[in-house]
Amino acid sequence: MRNSYPRTSATPINRGASPMRSPLRALIVLCAALPAVAAWADDPPGKVAYQRVCAKCHGDDPTEGDDGPALVPMYRTTAQVLDIVRNGTGQMDPVPDSKISDAEVSAVVAWLQMLSK
Ligand code: HEC
Repeated sequence: MRNSYPRTSATPINRGASPMRSPLRALIVLCAALPAVAAWADDPPGKVAYQRVCAKCHGDDPTEGDDGPALVPMYRTTAQVLDIVRNGTGQMDPVPDSKISDAEVSAVVAWLQMLSK
């Protein structure tokens, strides 16, 4: 039903709307995105979530630990860490979804694994 009437030459075709049509606009778009990319390079999402939730027990430096053990080297899978975070283990209480999402836990594990290489 969407094409039930023919497109005439008077139909607007949205000329010039693509940012890549003009090199200058493409450059502006690129420059606007750079700070976000640079911020991400400084602090990967997994580090941000770790600092927010896990660091108070496992240490600002996850290679050293604190009340909780050092988490680097990280030799567990994401599924295992998720199980520990959600259900707790030994002296560690469960951490609810309201404090850290599953996606953030995966990002934390990816960051810890990256530090373990
Ligand atoms: C309230 C303090 C606390 C917080 C917050 C906390 N942990 Fe823990 N965690 C501990 C303690 C204490 C242990 C040691 C448990 C034991 O073996 O009795 C532990 C153990 C673990 C272990 C098992 C370590 C091993 O090698 O056996 C993992 C993995 C872990 N924590 C991950 C995390 C992650 C990821 C977060 C953040 C989402 C987190 N923890 C937040 C206190 C905490």
